[in-house]
Parts: sequence; C-alpha cells; structure tokens
Amino acid sequence: MRIKKLLIYICAFTLTVYNVSVSAGSDLEGNWGVGKNIGSTHAFGLKRRERRLDRKLKRLIKRYSLTGNPLKNRTTPVPDINSPIAQLGMELFFSKTLGGDEDSACVTCHHPALGGGDNLSLPIGVEADEPDWLGLGRTNAGVDHKISGSPIPRNAPTTFNIIAWDQFMFHDGRVESLDKTPGNNGVGVLGIRTPDSGAIDKADLSAGENLVQAQARFPVTSPEEMKGFEHSEYSNQATREMLADRLKKDEEWVGKFEIVFDDKTITEQKVSFAIGEYERSQVFIETPWKQYIEGDKDALSVSAKKGAVLFFQPLNKGGADCASCHSGDFFTDESFHNLAMPQIGSGKGDGEHGSKDFGRARETRKESDMFAFRTPSLINVEVTGPWSHAGAYTSLEAVIKHHLNTADAIENYDFDQLAQDDISHQGLMFVNTKEALDASSFDMKKRNLNDNKVEYLVDFLKSLTDPCTKDLACLNQWIPDPDPFDYNYPDWD
Ligand code: HEC
Ligand code: HEC
Repeated sequence: MRIKKLLIYICAFTLTVYNVSVSAGSDLEGNWGVGKNIGSTHAFGLKRRERRLDRKLKRLIKRYSLTGNPLKNRTTPVPDINSPIAQLGMELFFSKTLGGDEDSACVTCHHPALGGGDNLSLPIGVEADEPDWLGLGRTNAGVDHKISGSPIPRNAPTTFNIIAWDQFMFHDGRVESLDKTPGNNGVGVLGIRTPDSGAIDKADLSAGENLVQAQARFPVTSPEEMKGFEHSEYSNQATREMLADRLKKDEEWVGKFEIVFDDKTITEQKVSFAIGEYERSQVFIETPWKQYIEGDKDALSVSAKKGAVLFFQPLNKGGADCASCHSGDFFTDESFHNLAMPQIGSGKGDGEHGSKDFGRARETRKESDMFAFRTPSLINVEVTGPWSHAGAYTSLEAVIKHHLNTADAIENYDFDQLAQDDISHQGLMFVNTKEALDASSFDMKKRNLNDNKVEYLVDFLKSLTDPCTKDLACLNQWIPDPDPFDYNYPDWD
C-alpha cells in the first residue's frame, strides 16, 4: 500500500504535464497548506495539484451529467414570491388561525430564517409555553394532554426547494405522486396518493394540484402539530372545512381571497393551494457548487474540491460513494434507505414499546423498507440541522461519521449534543436503533475515511449553501413585515 502510494506521488510529480488518472486517494492525502519550503516552487506545485483536482472533478461532473441546477428541466414554473397567490400563501403560512386552538402555524416549524425548519431536533407544535417563540427555547412543559417534551416523532424537514421533489413528501413518503414524472413536482394523470386515500396505490381525489399542495392539507389535521385536542371528533376533511369556515367569518380574509381568486368563497382547496404556492416560491439554489460547475473554478476551496471528489467517487476508487444515494443535481435518489439513524424521541407508536419508527415500511409493509427513510436533498444542508429523521445529530461531522461506521456511531452516540431539553424515550434509543442496525434492510457499507477526509466532506456540503439562506435581508421577501414570531437568529458562521 505504502509503495503504491509512493509510486503515485512520483508519477504525480514527474508526469503532471500528462493527464494522469489516479485514484481519489493521492490528491486527498495530507495537508497541502503546510510545507517546509513555502516558496514559488511550492506554490506552483499547489496550483498544479489543484488543477489536477479540477480535472478529476470535471470528469465526475460529466459522468453524472451534473449541471449544478436542481431545477433544470422543470415543467412547472416557479411561483414569484411577489405574486398575489404566494403573498396570500405567506399570510396563511404565518397565521395561527389555521391551528385548531390558534396556537400553532405552519411557520412554527418551518421559518425561512431557521433554514425552512425550526432548528429543533424534534418540533413543538400546540400548547407551547410561549406560542410565538420559535426554535430553541420553544418548550411545552404543560401537562394538559400528556404531550410535554417531544410528542412529535420526526424532525421538521426544510420547505426550501420543495418544488424540486417529484415523487414523495415526508420522511416516509406517505404523500406520493403516482406518476413520478421528472420535473413535475408530482403533477400527472394518475394523481397523488395521501393518507386519506385508503390504499397505497389509490389517488386522493382531493389532493390538489401538486405534491406541495397535497402535503399542506395534512399538518392542520395532526393534533400535536396544529389541530390540538379540543376537536378530536373532527375527521381530516371536517377539520380543514372547519378552518375554512373560520376564515370565511373574517372580513379581512374574505377580502384577501377575493383579490387573488376574484371570488369571495374560501375553500380548504384554495387555502392549501395558496400555502403551496408560497412554499414553492422558496427556491434557494445559487450555491458555490453551481457556480463552480458553471465555470468559476475559484468558487470552491481546495478542501471543498477534495470533498467533492470523495463524495462522487465510488468506493473501489477510494471515494465515499455518497452520490449513489444523494444523486443528481438535487442530491437525492428520492428513494428510501435504512441507515439506522439514532431513534430518539417518542417514535411513531411502532414496536412493543411504541417508541419505534418503522419508516417507509409503515406505508408499504415490506421487510425491505423497515426503518427506511427518504434520502434527504443536501442543497442548503448546512442550515437545515439538526440532521436525520429524528434530528439526532447536531453537527454535519457527526451525521457524516454515522454514515462511515454506523455501529460505532450508535454505540458512542452522545446525548449531550442535543441542545433541546426533554427529548423523550432516551433510554430506549440504543435498543430501538440496534434493531434497525440488525435489520436485513440496513443499507450502509462501512467506509474508512480519516478525520481530514470527513472535514473535506463537510466543506463540500457547505458549498451547497445558497448565501441567501443565511442572510436575513435576502430572506425578508419570504417573511411578513413585521414578523409576528420571535426566535434567536442563528449565528451561521
Ligand atoms: C409542529 C411542527 C410542524 C408544523 C406546525 C407544521 N409542520 Fe410541516 N413538518 C413537520 C414535521 C415533523 C414534518 C415531517 C413529518 C414526517 O415526515 O412524518 C413536516 C413535513 C413537512 C413537509 C414535507 C417536506 C418534505 O421534504 O417532504 C412540508 C412541505 C411541510 N411540512 C409544510 C408544512 C405546512 C404547509 C404546514 C402548515 C399547514 C406545516 N408544515 C406545519 C413539522 C411541522
Ligand atoms: C445508502 C444510501 C446513502 C448513502 C450512500 C449516503 N447517504 Fe446520506 N443519507 C441517506 C439517507 C436515507 C439519509 C436519511 C436517513 C434518516 O434520517 O434516517 C441520509 C442523511 C444524510 C445527511 C443528513 C441530512 C438531513 O437533512 O438530515 C447528510 C448530511 C448526509 N446524508 C450526507 C452523506 C454523505 C456525506 C455521504 C457519503 C459519505 C452519504 N450521505 C452517503 C442515504 C445515504
């Protein structure tokens, strides 16, 4: 191994004029910045190595037909945030009127200034101690309905770039396009399946226009997220209609709907459509990675370039093969995999203690889908933490290390990383997660990467951040003025 590496170095230094193809290993070892003889020769060597890295990346970008733009070939246009429909959607998204007891809104768990999420491992919806407080510090010590702590079992995914999904919504894909046409955001002749469909292959005739509208009809029906516990006799549809009736009684809302729809009637369909158009306007894709592919070779640091090579290079070429699941320009195969991410929190009621979450298998009932969750997109991943389906990891480094050696990561899982108090069922985490690790569906090969390489991967993931997502002045278009909610604005850098 040592001899092979030495040979590669000799080749690299003597044959640089030729386009030598080497394994990912050679360019990714060591720290280029530290050398005993820093001078022009050394600087020249560094530049040469960086150019070789660029060539290697160019080949990988070509092999995977990457453009840097997750919205290329979209058939459905992106709504403009300044359009009347998106503006109405924004007001609804930020309004607690859609909470059964008027104490929770969509934005409670999906604020643009919090990465389109809530900065919490596990969200807190209804009955919060301070309903207008978002993010860390949102608590629910109340014991009214035995939901103090973390009653919601999964991490709130970002609403950013939600228009780029074509197949599934939710970690378990329970809202599903039956067409799955690329570039369509779920639109098609077969329709969209939802939890209201009754069967896995049946369309919900009220799902609406696209996956995002179909999804927006469900949070209002969840007691812990928005509905509360005072209206348990209402079915999903009755809940939506009760909320539309509530809006109808308010002259101000009636006026707002009339401006957009040219018609005074307010229906639950119009409500979810408007919310969806607001969410679909949240496109944040102007990343350094995109600039790099478009020709700006200085858009990425050397470390991020090394990370990119690792990310795309297959295992047998010394890479980390992340792109086999996080594939394409949106960095997801829109498919489900069991990675045995730590199962913290209350779980979905599965298993003997009710504290497990069987993931995709809850929908398909297939052994091969046990504990499997949808592959997340990695665009803007830097700002969408905590990470994994239950928000168990609070650093990118830790969630990457989980991928590399899962058994080790679970065994050494550190509960202290959770900034949030009162995460329930911590004692059952090891048992529950071990079951996922031992399941036949477990889908992660061990990868031997040293800490330097993990750092390169982190730097590459950070190059997938659109700077707008960290800039309140830029995000302001998606936030009403004044913002009716309070939160600690994260210190991203
Ligand atoms: C109390 C927190 C909470 C509230 C309030 C809430 N959500 Fe969510 N949202 C979540 C969680 C948790 C998930 C993931 C649930 C799952 O996958 O099982 C989610 C999932 C989503 C998704 C799917 C994202 C994806 O990548 O698949 C969208 C879109 C979304 N919510 C939009 C909304 C809208 C619109 C509203 C208001 C009508 C809303 N949310 C209210 C917590 C919340
Ligand atoms: C076998 C498929 C697969 C491979 C290979 C893979 N991932 Fe993942 N990744 C997933 C899935 C699935 C999840 C979500 C799992 C969960 O939450 O239970 C995930 C989660 C993540 C997350 C957290 C994202 C979030 O929003 O919570 C990051 C970051 C990530 N992966 C990076 C990587 C990197 C870097 C590599 C290469 C070392 C990699 N992944 C390889 C499937 C994969």
